[in-house]
Amino acid sequence: MTSAYSDPAPVTVRVPAKVNLELLVGPARDDGFHTLSTVYQAVSLHDDVTVALDDDWGCSVHGPYADVVPSGASNLALRAARLLADETAIDTPVHVSIVKSIPVAGGMAGGSADAAATLVACDRLWSLGLSTEELEEYAAELGSDVPFLIRGGTAMGSGRGERLAPVLARGSYHWVFAISDIGLSTPEVYAECDALRGDTPVPDPVPNPELMSALRTGDPHVLARQLTNDLQPAAISLRPELGELLKSGLAFGALGGVVSGSGPTVAFLVEDVEAAIDLTVALTATGAAREVRKAVGPVHGAHVIPARVD
Ligand code: C5P
Repeated sequence: MTSAYSDPAPVTVRVPAKVNLELLVGPARDDGFHTLSTVYQAVSLHDDVTVALDDDWGCSVHGPYADVVPSGASNLALRAARLLADETAIDTPVHVSIVKSIPVAGGMAGGSADAAATLVACDRLWSLGLSTEELEEYAAELGSDVPFLIRGGTAMGSGRGERLAPVLARGSYHWVFAISDIGLSTPEVYAECDALRGDTPVPDPVPNPELMSALRTGDPHVLARQLTNDLQPAAISLRPELGELLKSGLAFGALGGVVSGSGPTVAFLVEDVEAAIDLTVALTATGAAREVRKAVGPVHGAHVIPARVD
């Protein structure tokens, strides 16, 4: 007998990684987070996250990084699904399946991206019909970067990074990401930033108007001069080899280079796709990075894609 009701089909969402074009770190707040002024750009390194109804809550991770991502209750994507279920009184468990291609623990918000994708996928699977703004509010409870991965494009982040405002940006930029093996923990990098500053008073960060103008030109040469990350000295202090990697990329022709978020990935801005290929080859040959990946930005935030037919 055919049931009048059939379970909804699994939903797959593609989500990008991010790079911070500017990351200005202000004073530590009472809750331990730092006041930020940042400009995010979503770039074309993607994870695909599929949610499907299941008998119990669960998560599995596939792809080259599967071994280094927790698949248990601590997985941020699974926490995202359970948070959304709790908040909307849903009691239908899902299995979250992640095909990971964004570098893990690299400063590119890979875990946050999976959480963002899960919110968008569960909203569709459970037919919640939430607005982007509502999804971004739930996203902020999961991590500072999660709302941006829902929105994508180029955007300014304030507060602890979760309060977003649009940025007028022209053009498409070519990036090369050098991903190293050395681990860096985000809280440790923030703590090192505080330690390096010592007792010097730190003002609230203010966005740099020259970066905003640079983004309106669409010219990578102009943008390259404005890339800034206040966490970079801290990341280099903890892992001096990152300073050498930055120098190598610039010597090999990158227009600009910056540590991505809290590192250890280093992002290089290049002129065009040929320059991206040349830099990828040169950096790979040095062996200074475990992996070198090309990407373009800006790209869309988390969005539903047709189901895979395997
Ligand atoms: O928000 P998220 O979970 O990604 O933050 C990870 C850690 O990074 C925090 O626990 C905190 O130590 C540090 N952080 C911070 N200030 C921010 C964002 C993150 O100190 N604005």
